Amino acid sequence: PLVTTGELVTRAATARSAVAAFNIITLEHVEAVITGAESLGAPVVLQVSENAVKFRYGRLLPLARAAVVAAERAAVPVALHLDHVRSDDLLRQAADAGFGSVMYDAAHLPYAENLAATRAAADWAHSQGLWIEAELGEVGGKQGRPALDAHAPGARTDPAEARAFVADSGVDALAVAIGSAHAMTERTATLDHDLLKRLTTTLDVPLVLHGSSGVRDDELTAAVAGGIAKVNVGTALNIAMTGAIREFLAAHPEAVDSRTYLSVGRDAMAEAARRIIQLLGR
Ligand code: G3H
Ligand code: ZN
Repeated sequence: PLVTTGELVTRAATARSAVAAFNIITLEHVEAVITGAESLGAPVVLQVSENAVKFRYGRLLPLARAAVVAAERAAVPVALHLDHVRSDDLLRQAADAGFGSVMYDAAHLPYAENLAATRAAADWAHSQGLWIEAELGEVGGKQGRPALDAHAPGARTDPAEARAFVADSGVDALAVAIGSAHAMTERTATLDHDLLKRLTTTLDVPLVLHGSSGVRDDELTAAVAGGIAKVNVGTALNIAMTGAIREFLAAHPEAVDSRTYLSVGRDAMAEAARRIIQLLGR
Protein backbone atom coordinates (compact mmCIF):
# COMPACT_ATOMS: atom_id res chain seq x y z
CA PRO A 1 0.00 0.00 0.00
CA LEU A 2 0.91 3.65 -0.47
CA VAL A 3 2.03 5.24 2.81
CA THR A 4 3.92 8.42 3.72
CA THR A 5 7.65 8.94 4.13
CA GLY A 6 6.97 10.67 7.44
CA GLU A 7 5.48 7.56 9.00
CA LEU A 8 8.24 5.28 7.68
CA VAL A 9 11.01 7.57 8.91
CA THR A 10 9.36 8.02 12.32
CA ARG A 11 8.98 4.27 12.67
CA ALA A 12 12.63 3.71 11.68
CA ALA A 13 13.91 6.42 14.02
CA THR A 14 11.98 4.87 16.93
CA ALA A 15 13.40 1.43 16.11
CA ARG A 16 16.90 2.90 15.65
CA SER A 17 16.92 1.48 12.14
CA ALA A 18 16.73 3.34 8.82
CA VAL A 19 14.37 3.25 5.89
CA ALA A 20 15.99 2.90 2.48
CA ALA A 21 14.99 5.51 -0.12
CA PHE A 22 15.84 4.60 -3.69
CA ASN A 23 15.97 6.97 -6.64
CA ILE A 24 13.76 5.76 -9.46
CA ILE A 25 14.29 6.72 -13.09
CA THR A 26 12.45 4.08 -15.11
CA LEU A 27 9.53 1.71 -14.52
CA GLU A 28 12.15 -1.04 -14.10
CA HIS A 29 13.59 0.85 -11.11
CA VAL A 30 10.09 1.02 -9.56
CA GLU A 31 9.42 -2.68 -10.04
CA ALA A 32 12.88 -3.74 -8.91
CA VAL A 33 12.85 -1.74 -5.67
CA ILE A 34 9.38 -2.99 -4.74
CA THR A 35 10.39 -6.57 -5.55
CA GLY A 36 13.48 -6.23 -3.34
CA ALA A 37 11.41 -4.80 -0.47
CA GLU A 38 8.72 -7.46 -0.86
CA SER A 39 11.31 -10.23 -0.68
CA LEU A 40 12.09 -8.99 2.86
CA GLY A 41 8.61 -7.83 3.88
CA ALA A 42 10.15 -4.40 4.49
CA PRO A 43 8.82 -0.89 3.82
CA VAL A 44 10.65 1.31 1.31
CA VAL A 45 10.69 4.83 -0.14
CA LEU A 46 10.67 5.47 -3.88
CA GLN A 47 12.05 8.90 -4.68
CA VAL A 48 12.05 10.93 -7.88
CA SER A 49 14.69 13.63 -8.15
CA GLU A 50 14.38 16.87 -10.06
CA ASN A 51 17.14 15.52 -12.33
CA ALA A 52 15.05 12.41 -13.07
CA VAL A 53 12.09 14.66 -13.94
CA LYS A 54 14.38 16.55 -16.36
CA PHE A 55 15.31 13.22 -17.95
CA ARG A 56 11.58 12.43 -18.36
CA TYR A 57 11.19 15.47 -20.66
CA GLY A 58 10.47 17.64 -17.64
CA ARG A 59 7.30 15.72 -16.80
CA LEU A 60 6.73 14.30 -13.35
CA LEU A 61 3.31 12.73 -13.80
CA PRO A 62 3.93 9.77 -16.11
CA LEU A 63 6.53 8.16 -13.81
CA ALA A 64 4.71 9.35 -10.67
CA ARG A 65 1.40 7.81 -11.74
CA ALA A 66 3.14 4.49 -12.45
CA ALA A 67 4.88 4.59 -9.09
CA VAL A 68 1.63 5.39 -7.25
CA VAL A 69 -0.15 2.42 -8.83
CA ALA A 70 2.82 0.13 -8.13
CA ALA A 71 2.93 1.34 -4.50
CA GLU A 72 -0.81 0.84 -4.01
CA ARG A 73 -0.52 -2.72 -5.23
CA ALA A 74 2.69 -3.58 -3.36
CA ALA A 75 2.62 -6.18 -0.58
CA VAL A 76 4.73 -3.86 1.62
CA PRO A 77 4.32 -0.18 2.65
CA VAL A 78 5.76 2.08 -0.06
CA ALA A 79 6.14 5.87 0.20
CA LEU A 80 6.72 8.36 -2.61
CA HIS A 81 9.15 11.24 -2.13
CA LEU A 82 10.21 14.10 -4.40
CA ASP A 83 14.01 14.42 -4.10
CA HIS A 84 16.46 17.35 -4.49
CA VAL A 85 13.86 19.88 -5.57
CA ARG A 86 15.10 23.35 -6.45
CA SER A 87 12.23 24.41 -8.69
CA ASP A 88 9.19 25.90 -6.94
CA ASP A 89 7.07 24.83 -9.88
CA LEU A 90 8.06 21.17 -9.36
CA LEU A 91 7.63 21.48 -5.59
CA ARG A 92 4.05 22.55 -6.12
CA GLN A 93 3.28 19.46 -8.19
CA ALA A 94 4.15 17.07 -5.34
CA ALA A 95 0.78 16.64 -3.64
CA ASP A 96 -1.23 16.29 -6.86
CA ALA A 97 1.22 13.66 -8.12
CA GLY A 98 0.59 11.50 -5.03
CA PHE A 99 3.80 12.29 -3.14
CA GLY A 100 3.64 12.51 0.66
CA SER A 101 7.00 14.22 1.07
CA VAL A 102 9.62 16.41 -0.56
CA MET A 103 13.28 17.22 -0.13
CA TYR A 104 13.85 20.89 -0.80
CA ASP A 105 17.46 21.51 -1.76
CA ALA A 106 18.78 25.04 -1.31
CA ALA A 107 22.04 23.85 0.27
CA HIS A 108 24.08 25.51 -2.49
CA LEU A 109 22.91 28.93 -1.28
CA PRO A 110 24.53 30.98 1.50
CA TYR A 111 23.03 30.21 4.95
CA ALA A 112 20.54 33.09 5.12
CA GLU A 113 19.19 32.42 1.64
CA ASN A 114 19.03 28.66 2.23
CA LEU A 115 17.05 29.33 5.41
CA ALA A 116 14.62 31.80 3.82
CA ALA A 117 13.95 29.57 0.80
CA THR A 118 13.61 26.46 2.97
CA ARG A 119 11.26 28.16 5.41
CA ALA A 120 8.99 29.26 2.55
CA ALA A 121 9.07 25.72 1.11
CA ALA A 122 8.32 24.21 4.54
CA ASP A 123 5.37 26.56 5.12
CA TRP A 124 3.94 25.60 1.77
CA ALA A 125 4.61 21.87 2.24
CA HIS A 126 2.94 21.83 5.65
CA SER A 127 -0.09 23.69 4.28
CA GLN A 128 -0.45 20.74 1.89
CA GLY A 129 0.10 18.12 4.57
CA LEU A 130 3.52 17.19 3.14
CA TRP A 131 6.56 16.09 5.17
CA ILE A 132 9.66 18.05 4.19
CA GLU A 133 13.39 17.33 4.33
CA ALA A 134 16.07 19.97 3.69
CA GLU A 135 19.86 20.05 3.60
CA LEU A 136 22.44 22.04 5.49
CA GLY A 137 26.12 21.74 4.77
CA GLU A 138 26.53 20.49 1.25
CA VAL A 139 26.74 16.84 0.22
CA GLY A 140 28.92 17.17 -2.88
CA GLY A 141 28.76 15.48 -6.24
CA LYS A 142 25.51 17.09 -7.40
CA GLN A 143 25.04 18.05 -11.03
CA GLY A 144 28.56 17.25 -12.03
CA ARG A 145 30.28 19.19 -9.25
CA PRO A 146 33.30 17.39 -7.84
CA ALA A 147 32.43 14.83 -5.17
CA LEU A 148 35.53 15.95 -3.29
CA ASP A 149 33.58 19.04 -2.17
CA ALA A 150 31.93 16.83 0.42
CA HIS A 151 35.21 16.04 2.06
CA ALA A 152 36.13 19.67 2.58
CA PRO A 153 35.51 20.58 6.25
CA GLY A 154 33.60 23.73 5.22
CA ALA A 155 31.00 21.56 3.49
CA ARG A 156 30.19 19.64 6.68
CA THR A 157 27.05 20.33 8.71
CA ASP A 158 27.73 22.38 11.83
CA PRO A 159 25.62 21.14 14.81
CA ALA A 160 24.84 24.56 16.32
CA GLU A 161 23.96 26.03 12.93
CA ALA A 162 21.84 22.96 12.15
CA ARG A 163 19.88 23.37 15.38
CA ALA A 164 19.01 26.97 14.50
CA PHE A 165 18.24 26.01 10.89
CA VAL A 166 15.77 23.30 11.90
CA ALA A 167 14.07 25.52 14.49
CA ASP A 168 13.83 28.53 12.16
CA SER A 169 12.79 26.65 9.00
CA GLY A 170 10.39 24.15 10.58
CA VAL A 171 11.58 21.20 8.46
CA ASP A 172 10.71 17.64 9.51
CA ALA A 173 14.08 16.04 8.72
CA LEU A 174 17.59 17.16 7.87
CA ALA A 175 20.06 15.85 5.29
CA VAL A 176 23.51 16.19 6.81
CA ALA A 177 26.95 16.44 5.23
CA ILE A 178 29.15 14.06 7.24
CA GLY A 179 31.51 12.77 4.54
CA SER A 180 29.41 11.07 1.87
CA ALA A 181 29.15 12.43 -1.69
CA HIS A 182 26.73 11.84 -4.52
CA ALA A 183 27.32 9.56 -7.50
CA MET A 184 30.36 7.70 -6.16
CA THR A 185 31.00 4.48 -8.06
CA GLU A 186 33.49 3.15 -5.48
CA ARG A 187 32.53 2.69 -1.83
CA THR A 188 35.37 4.79 -0.43
CA ALA A 189 33.58 7.50 1.56
CA THR A 190 34.73 7.96 5.15
CA LEU A 191 32.01 9.18 7.48
CA ASP A 192 32.65 11.46 10.41
CA HIS A 193 30.91 9.44 13.14
CA ASP A 194 31.93 11.89 15.82
CA LEU A 195 30.18 14.71 13.96
CA LEU A 196 27.13 12.47 13.46
CA LYS A 197 27.00 11.87 17.20
CA ARG A 198 27.12 15.60 17.90
CA LEU A 199 24.37 16.18 15.33
CA THR A 200 22.07 13.52 16.81
CA THR A 201 22.46 14.87 20.32
CA THR A 202 21.93 18.47 19.18
CA LEU A 203 18.95 17.91 16.86
CA ASP A 204 15.53 16.47 17.50
CA VAL A 205 14.54 15.70 13.90
CA PRO A 206 15.47 12.51 11.98
CA LEU A 207 18.70 12.73 9.99
CA VAL A 208 19.12 11.67 6.37
CA LEU A 209 22.24 10.33 4.66
CA HIS A 210 22.65 11.20 0.98
CA GLY A 211 25.13 9.69 -1.44
CA SER A 212 24.91 6.34 0.33
CA SER A 213 26.11 4.36 -2.72
CA GLY A 214 29.65 5.44 -1.89
CA VAL A 215 29.46 4.16 1.70
CA ARG A 216 30.71 0.70 2.73
CA ASP A 217 28.41 -1.71 4.61
CA ASP A 218 30.17 -1.31 7.97
CA GLU A 219 30.17 2.49 7.67
CA LEU A 220 26.48 2.43 6.77
CA THR A 221 25.42 0.24 9.70
CA ALA A 222 27.52 2.44 12.02
CA ALA A 223 25.74 5.53 10.65
CA VAL A 224 22.34 3.93 11.28
CA ALA A 225 23.41 3.00 14.80
CA GLY A 226 24.55 6.61 15.16
CA GLY A 227 21.13 8.02 14.31
CA ILE A 228 20.64 8.14 10.52
CA ALA A 229 16.97 7.24 9.87
CA LYS A 230 16.71 7.58 6.07
CA VAL A 231 19.36 6.31 3.68
CA ASN A 232 19.26 7.65 0.11
CA VAL A 233 20.57 5.35 -2.61
CA GLY A 234 20.67 6.05 -6.32
CA THR A 235 23.94 5.19 -8.03
CA ALA A 236 24.12 1.65 -6.59
CA LEU A 237 21.00 0.71 -8.56
CA ASN A 238 22.43 2.11 -11.77
CA ILE A 239 25.72 0.31 -11.25
CA ALA A 240 23.77 -2.95 -10.85
CA MET A 241 21.49 -2.34 -13.83
CA THR A 242 24.10 -1.10 -16.26
CA GLY A 243 26.62 -3.78 -15.32
CA ALA A 244 24.10 -6.58 -15.78
CA ILE A 245 22.88 -5.23 -19.12
CA ARG A 246 26.42 -4.66 -20.38
CA GLU A 247 27.34 -8.24 -19.53
CA PHE A 248 24.15 -9.64 -21.09
CA LEU A 249 24.58 -7.73 -24.35
CA ALA A 250 28.24 -8.72 -24.62
CA ALA A 251 27.24 -12.39 -24.27
CA HIS A 252 24.21 -12.01 -26.58
CA PRO A 253 25.15 -9.73 -29.46
CA GLU A 254 22.12 -11.04 -31.39
CA ALA A 255 19.63 -9.83 -28.75
CA VAL A 256 16.92 -7.49 -30.04
CA ASP A 257 13.91 -7.74 -27.75
CA SER A 258 14.41 -5.05 -25.07
CA ARG A 259 12.70 -7.28 -22.49
CA THR A 260 15.62 -9.71 -22.59
CA TYR A 261 18.12 -7.21 -21.22
CA LEU A 262 15.71 -5.01 -19.23
CA SER A 263 14.65 -8.03 -17.19
CA VAL A 264 18.30 -8.83 -16.45
CA GLY A 265 18.87 -5.21 -15.40
CA ARG A 266 15.71 -5.23 -13.28
CA ASP A 267 16.72 -8.44 -11.49
CA ALA A 268 20.13 -6.97 -10.70
CA MET A 269 18.53 -3.83 -9.25
CA ALA A 270 16.08 -5.88 -7.17
CA GLU A 271 18.99 -7.81 -5.66
CA ALA A 272 20.97 -4.60 -4.99
CA ALA A 273 17.92 -3.03 -3.31
CA ARG A 274 17.27 -6.17 -1.23
CA ARG A 275 20.87 -6.20 -0.01
CA ILE A 276 20.76 -2.58 1.14
CA ILE A 277 17.31 -2.85 2.78
CA GLN A 278 18.47 -5.92 4.68
CA LEU A 279 21.61 -4.13 5.86
CA LEU A 280 19.62 -1.27 7.37
CA GLY A 281 17.50 -3.50 9.60
CA ARG A 282 13.98 -2.94 10.85
O1 G3H B 1 19.21 11.84 -3.03
C1 G3H B 1 19.73 10.84 -3.56
C2 G3H B 1 20.88 10.19 -2.99
O2 G3H B 1 21.62 11.05 -2.23
C3 G3H B 1 21.61 9.24 -3.90
O3 G3H B 1 23.02 9.32 -3.92
O4 G3H B 1 23.36 8.17 -6.09
O5 G3H B 1 25.26 8.64 -4.60
O6 G3H B 1 23.58 6.91 -3.95
P1 G3H B 1 23.87 8.19 -4.67
ZN1 ZN C 1 20.96 13.17 -2.51
